[in-house]
Amino acid sequence: MRRLARATLLLCVIGFAGGVGLVAWPIGVEPPRTLERLEGNVERGAYLARAAGCIACHSNFEEGGAPLAGGAPLNTDFGIFYPPNLTTDPVHGMGAWTISDFARAVRQGISPEGEPYYPTFPYPFYARLTDQDIADLWAAFQTVPAVAVPAPQYEASFPFDQRWALKLWRAAFLSEPDTASVDGRSEAWNRGKWLVRGAAHCGACHTDRNFAGARIATRIFAGNDSLPGGKSAPSILPSDLQAGGWDVDSLAYALSTGVTPEGDVFGGSMAEVVNYGTGFLSEADLTAMATYIMDNDLSEN
Ligand code: HEC
Ligand code: HEC
Repeated sequence: MRRLARATLLLCVIGFAGGVGLVAWPIGVEPPRTLERLEGNVERGAYLARAAGCIACHSNFEEGGAPLAGGAPLNTDFGIFYPPNLTTDPVHGMGAWTISDFARAVRQGISPEGEPYYPTFPYPFYARLTDQDIADLWAAFQTVPAVAVPAPQYEASFPFDQRWALKLWRAAFLSEPDTASVDGRSEAWNRGKWLVRGAAHCGACHTDRNFAGARIATRIFAGNDSLPGGKSAPSILPSDLQAGGWDVDSLAYALSTGVTPEGDVFGGSMAEVVNYGTGFLSEADLTAMATYIMDNDLSEN
């Protein structure tokens, strides 16, 4: 039923869009010129690439793939998406890109050709990355050996295969995140918020989505039953975690090791989040994330 409602809506939208020349509608803003003059830090960039899951999603280690040479397929309600090759290969990777191309792709979800990316790529979270974060990531990506593996084309059925229709999706659902630090909250809490709501994109899995695959703001962290492959992620609202016996220390520990307060281990995609991502983070960052997760409310967007 949800699928049918989605299809009907998108069909209407596409009918309308054809009339207004949406295909040629330009999107996004020019990244700042100063970006090219920033000195990137490889180590910090590699750390960020772990925290943000770039390595987890864009590598297919289970199939013996090289780091960042392309990820395992993501089977969503809208189609199958393949995280592309991000190595320095000039044909199949980003070898021919500029840092501005990279910044536009990661923070705005727009390709060097000006085409919108599908939000399966969690770029709306990465809009919180600063220019320095982008420079650091870019410096780290320059050290990745070129691997000449093409990225498979995504597989979606009409109307979801119409990439330009994402321009409407953007107009309807994309908003600038509020990156100002929250007064009266500790530095650790604010750092935690930046990681959780930004780079580590916890809400990509733990927040429910609407008919069009956009996160529902009022359902932030309340759990989500439509993960790729029909899996679900539980609520990580402070009240639910507290009721489940979690506190700041046990959460920081679980994000580091995958071991829960009950002595169980995380399964499913949460195991990957830890194995390829949060398991590499500093104790200070793990505590910062746990501090924010265990104590936040919707008024503090
Ligand atoms: C949940 C999985 C996931 C994560 C995490 C992720 N990506 Fe992606 N990424 C994708 C998918 C899927 C696409 C393809 C989107 C499309 O085809 O519209 C993509 C596309 C891209 C592209 C465009 C590549 C091209 O050839 O056009 C870049 C650049 C990129 N990602 C960089 C990153 C960086 C940097 C990070 C970490 C900060 C990251 N991604 C994290 C899934 C992911
Ligand atoms: C790729 C999807 C995905 C992402 C991203 C993700 N999670 Fe999860 N998370 C899950 C799934 C799936 C489970 C259920 C794991 C299980 O069944 O063992 C889970 C479980 C959890 C639990 C256990 C809750 C409970 O009551 O048992 C916590 C806590 C948690 N995640 C925190 C986080 C935090 C913090 C982040 C951001 C750093 C995050 N998750 C990012 C998918 C995800």
